[in-house]
Amino acid sequence: MTTEKVEERREFECSLPRPCEFSTVDGILLQKESCDIWDRIWNFQAKPDDLIIASYPKAGTTWTQEIVDLIQNEGDVEKSRRAPIALRQPFLEWIRPTTSGIDQVKAMPSPRTMKTHLPVQLLPPSFWEKNCKIIYVARNVKDNLVSYYHFQRMNKSLPDPGSWDEYFEAFLAGKVLWGSWYDHVKGWWRKKDSHPILYLFYEEMIQDRKREIRKVMEFLGKNTKEEILDKIVYNTSFDMMKTNPMTNYTNDKKLNHAISPFMRKGIIGDWKNQFTVAQNKKFNEDYEKKMADTSLSFCMEP
Ligand code: A3P
Repeated sequence: MTTEKVEERREFECSLPRPCEFSTVDGILLQKESCDIWDRIWNFQAKPDDLIIASYPKAGTTWTQEIVDLIQNEGDVEKSRRAPIALRQPFLEWIRPTTSGIDQVKAMPSPRTMKTHLPVQLLPPSFWEKNCKIIYVARNVKDNLVSYYHFQRMNKSLPDPGSWDEYFEAFLAGKVLWGSWYDHVKGWWRKKDSHPILYLFYEEMIQDRKREIRKVMEFLGKNTKEEILDKIVYNTSFDMMKTNPMTNYTNDKKLNHAISPFMRKGIIGDWKNQFTVAQNKKFNEDYEKKMADTSLSFCMEP
């Protein structure tokens, strides 16, 4: 398809009404279509060599996915550009009009890598039974929230976020897709004590990408050859991924990058441009209460 045609199609798709039906599984707000076939998702049969990249939405999932794919392909950029990231590593619980994440995964040869945003208690039990490796990436809540807000503005597959003030309140109440950020990051953090989970932090990836990529390589049992590592570091910078059509989601018709690009800012501390002083105060008080029962801590300053 030509670029003009893709643009035309995107404009058309984006002008369609947004889906208004969302539903819940055990109190967690999810896409209605996923809830409708929840039994199939819950009973998904994992294989021991499956790898899952898990995260709360907008925590740096795509970044982690691209790093993993490059590691699996020994830093071969051409191989990693074989398809958009969403096809290389399907989104387990997401349903599209023509296919579903679980069907995409089932059609893949092993070893399979996939992504999920499910909170830990909703991950299909066979992943635990088969002792699959999992990489979880978490991001400080304030930047995560701001990124999520802009993503919902531009993603016509998700509900309209409303105004920033409305979204801020909905997020605090956990009334957003995939549920409460607080429960999500804490739940996965606890689980890593009893399961092979590599828990990454977006801010640490920003601070020292090379060190964090090395961690991922070690977790995946890959030899850390310096030149491969350097190649992966180079190809996973924000600027490289922003211009890479296989990672920047410009091929997704439901995303309107004119509203806000998928690869938006990629920094720590953007929340300061969005939160009012009053919102920050309210947020901090609430944060202290919700995070009092965990050893998890996040860097919120650049
Ligand atoms: P911002 O909206 O703050 O820019 P996800 O993949 O989970 O949807 O996360 C998307 C967020 O990760 C976006 O954050 C995006 O810019 C950021 N991101 C993606 N690749 C990145 C990279 N290579 N370096 C830094 N941030 C990156």
